[in-house]
Amino acid sequence: MSRSAPALRPYLPEDAPLLAAIFAASIMDLTGDDYSEAQQEAWAQAAEDEAAFGKKLAGQLTLIATLQGSPVGFASLKGTDQIDMLYVHPSAVGQGVGAALCEALEKIAGARGAKKLKVDASDTALDFFRKRGYVPQQRNTVTVGDEWLANTTMQKTLDAVAPSPPGGHA
Ligand SMILES: CC(C)(COP(=O)(O)OP(=O)(O)OC[C@H]1O[C@@H](n2cnc3c(N)ncnc32)[C@H](O)[C@@H]1OP(=O)(O)O)[C@@H](O)C(=O)NCCC(=O)NCCS
Repeated sequence: MSRSAPALRPYLPEDAPLLAAIFAASIMDLTGDDYSEAQQEAWAQAAEDEAAFGKKLAGQLTLIATLQGSPVGFASLKGTDQIDMLYVHPSAVGQGVGAALCEALEKIAGARGAKKLKVDASDTALDFFRKRGYVPQQRNTVTVGDEWLANTTMQKTLDAVAPSPPGGHA
């Protein structure tokens, strides 16, 4: 069966409730092999205050992936060289949505002059990022609410973006 490539668009303030729902569903349905239920709940609670969550999304470079026009995932770039969020709805995993979002952030970061891109990857996403060329740097333990969660800082060297020659010819 052929699958359609996800389309990408920038975040708009009215997307916040839908992205909060994708965030919570993604955590609660996809990370259970790696985190306890208490850890998942603490993590998912970060989107419970929709206004604060929307403010965070708006303060970063946030991209939304859609399939047949419906948002199914999102990713955000913090500063010039850090992937902060990458979440795909459980009903849309395995269709290249995460890869499309990640690739777009890599291109944007590279075009803005970043030489490397970092991510504090969840244990669930570790192999996804490894497959894309991210190399583990260090293990971290972070507090989220009353819970401690482990993640891994990973880093990818971005391809040098060749500047266009003046006049369009080499
Ligand atoms: C990790 C996540 C974003 C992947 O999204 P996705 O849309 O399913 O990923 P894709 O379909 O684009 O997969 C791209 C490739 O990575 C592989 N892959 C995806 N998730 C993987 C995983 N958890 N482990 C190993 N490989 C994985 C796919 O098989 C695919 O391989 P291929 O190119 O050989 O076909 C998604 O599972 C998710 O939202 N997880 C829960 C939230 C989370 O942990 N986010 C990360 C916070 S840092």
